[in-house]
Amino acid sequence: MASIIPLLTEFEKGHISERQPLPERYLGLSDAEMDARIAAARAQLAGRLVILGHHYQRDEVIKFADYTGDSFRLARQIATRPEADYIVFCGVHFMAESADVLAAPHQQVILPDLTAGCSMSDMAAPDQLESCWEELTQMGIPGVVPVTYINSAASIKAFVGERGGSVCTSSNAAATFRWAFARGERVLFLPDQHLGRNTAYTMGIPLADMVVWDPDEIFGGLDPDQVLRARMILWKGLCSVHERFTVPQIDAVRRQHPGIRVIVHPEVAWDVVQAADASGSTEYILKTVRNSPPGSVWAVGTEVHLVNRLANELAPERTVMSLDRFGCLCSTMFRISPNHLLWILEELVDGRVHNRVRVPDAQKHWTRVALDRMLSTS
Ligand code: 13P
Ligand code: SF4
Repeated sequence: MASIIPLLTEFEKGHISERQPLPERYLGLSDAEMDARIAAARAQLAGRLVILGHHYQRDEVIKFADYTGDSFRLARQIATRPEADYIVFCGVHFMAESADVLAAPHQQVILPDLTAGCSMSDMAAPDQLESCWEELTQMGIPGVVPVTYINSAASIKAFVGERGGSVCTSSNAAATFRWAFARGERVLFLPDQHLGRNTAYTMGIPLADMVVWDPDEIFGGLDPDQVLRARMILWKGLCSVHERFTVPQIDAVRRQHPGIRVIVHPEVAWDVVQAADASGSTEYILKTVRNSPPGSVWAVGTEVHLVNRLANELAPERTVMSLDRFGCLCSTMFRISPNHLLWILEELVDGRVHNRVRVPDAQKHWTRVALDRMLSTS
């Protein structure tokens, strides 16, 4: 697997210097050899190692995970394995950062390729959030409780935690908003406007009570009266993968497969959730489709590795297809290759740690506070 990176995001530019690239000798290995060597290294490390795998990981990686899950479930797993010295996170950077904050002090968290970021997480920078907070004060907006999606940098989580806010995931966003509304009049939610809008709407908050804060505009591009009337202030961020799902795609699959059910991740746009039959986190999608009656036909609006794996698992009793006929790939999740996993594990066997993710001590306390609020809200 070549470690050439054609286009660098802001996140990648920030991490490229610390990233230890895959050595040449790990390129061009056969699948069978990689499987055998990963299994051998894993067996040698035994209880000293735990491998966590997000549902968007490739088959050839996730099959080695000790635990799989959505962001919430994986964050919860950290506390269950305090004896493991190494936590190898097959996912993206914000997940590994959260693991580092939740892990015991002796545990080292490793992201096999440090450039596995998240384009949505990059859409909220700490200086933008500081300006937003300052501008909301200048505009005289009272009672703002900040909530950040787990898909954000540790520095953003720390800022939110210090100001009385919380982290949430797609599986506990509604519970977290209820928690926040018990503490203030309005929620500033970042970075994903769609998860914020979809969740608040489901809770009965009308679209008219939501505004979108554009971090590239002075005062978010809003006037104080608009913000004063709002209960939800939604950061102008999104997921470039889930943005691809559209209502015309839903109309098309319904025409082609009468009786089909459509299930989507809440990172898709509001009109897409409205046109779908169900919406929820990756764990929710898996559970709902697995528990559907034999003969069910599903179109799934989320990352293609999850969809293909589910389709293979449930065939022929149930039919599962991607809502986007070209499939939607999260290219940063894809960076965690079996080659990287093999290299990381063989180096750990020899006592060498590469691509460790470390949240600076100065951010750890408030990030932990915000994450603990998340873990206790469900
Ligand atoms: P889940 O927490 O639902 O797994 O979502 C994570 C994610 O990044 C979705 O794009
Ligand atoms: Fe980030 Fe979207 Fe990939 Fe999820 S699917 S990790 S939100 S870029």
